Amino acid sequence: MGSWIHYCSSVAVLLLILLLHGANGCDYFKGSWVFDPSYPLYNSSSCSFIEKEFNCQNNGRPDSLYLKYRWKPSDCDLPRFDGLDFLRRNRGKRIMFVGDSLSLNQWKSLICLLHSAVPHAKFTIVNQPENHLTIFTFQDYGVSVMLSRNVYLVDLVSEKIGRVLKLDSVKETSKGWNNLDVLIFNTWHWWNRRGPTQPFDYFEVGNKIYKDMDRLAAFQIALNTWATWVDTNIDPTKTRVFFQGISPSHYNGTDWNEPGLKNCQGQKIPLNGNTYPGGLPPALTVLKRVLSSMSKPVYLLDVTELSLLRKDGHPSSYGLAGMDCSHWCLPGVPDTWNQLLYNALIH
Ligand SMILES: *[C@@H]1O[C@H](CO)[C@@H](O)[C@H](O)[C@H]1NC(C)=O
Ligand SMILES: *[C@@H]1O[C@H](CO)[C@@H](O)[C@H](O)[C@H]1NC(C)=O
Repeated sequence: MGSWIHYCSSVAVLLLILLLHGANGCDYFKGSWVFDPSYPLYNSSSCSFIEKEFNCQNNGRPDSLYLKYRWKPSDCDLPRFDGLDFLRRNRGKRIMFVGDSLSLNQWKSLICLLHSAVPHAKFTIVNQPENHLTIFTFQDYGVSVMLSRNVYLVDLVSEKIGRVLKLDSVKETSKGWNNLDVLIFNTWHWWNRRGPTQPFDYFEVGNKIYKDMDRLAAFQIALNTWATWVDTNIDPTKTRVFFQGISPSHYNGTDWNEPGLKNCQGQKIPLNGNTYPGGLPPALTVLKRVLSSMSKPVYLLDVTELSLLRKDGHPSSYGLAGMDCSHWCLPGVPDTWNQLLYNALIH
């Protein structure tokens, strides 16, 4: 019995490696950005659903060259996103993003990509604020693309002492994660949040309460809790599980060889080449470590490095008030994340 389980998990790991590298040996996540006049894949004026915070053109961003870049893996071409094909292949399916505003960013990109492929198709939008859930359904195809807002993935509970972030519990948050066809998880950006906008007062681990912790260590414990839930509850023949990777920010020009710059304002073109001078964030190392310890296959949308090259892709001052070098303009970089999701789903 033990060796059978061992055999099964070896097969799962092998499948994961094949998936990550593509059947043809091409690493989709290693490459560079090339100019392509046929981009962007949709026009912001034809997708009325884009939140103000991502709608850079509408907010007056004067340059538009940043819209015209296509991701080119070094060893192959990434098949173009085909919205009609996506809807047909996923007929009757429920696809859910779970995470923070970077999930919102990718979810909205996918809705724009699909809507622009079938602009006359019927759709409904159902909001369930009590569940922090929004469901966008393309009725003619029966495809639902859902967003579940959940910034830490683990439980955040109000108790007598205050708001407690329970690093080893997903009892509450996981309630909506069953019976879906595709799940795309993400968490990271809120783990470094401190001060008045930190939405909890204490950490809890193993029945112990802590006022504060090393945030990367807390992130790892929470990811392991999530991973245990996936390994215990997901049937890979019914549900494909993705992790949206670590979406990077651009607040320090030293990282892209422009020391002195404190944000991404005025960046109009991507970095050349296929490596980011500032290196990769430690959170990605933690995430990869957790994923490699899992027994069920989880496909990592490894978007960190390709997005790091896009210092030009953020709203900067053309989002909400203030300087935003964390989220991404739409159309823009998350369209490529969805192109990668699409290619992973069809293989
Ligand atoms: C979007 O559509 C409008 C109206 O058709 C057009 O003026 C504009 O140039 C388009 N923008 C892009 C980026 O294609
Ligand atoms: C930017 O990064 C460099 C190198 O890591 C560091 O020395 C510098 O303090 C950083 N600047 C800011 C404003 O954080």
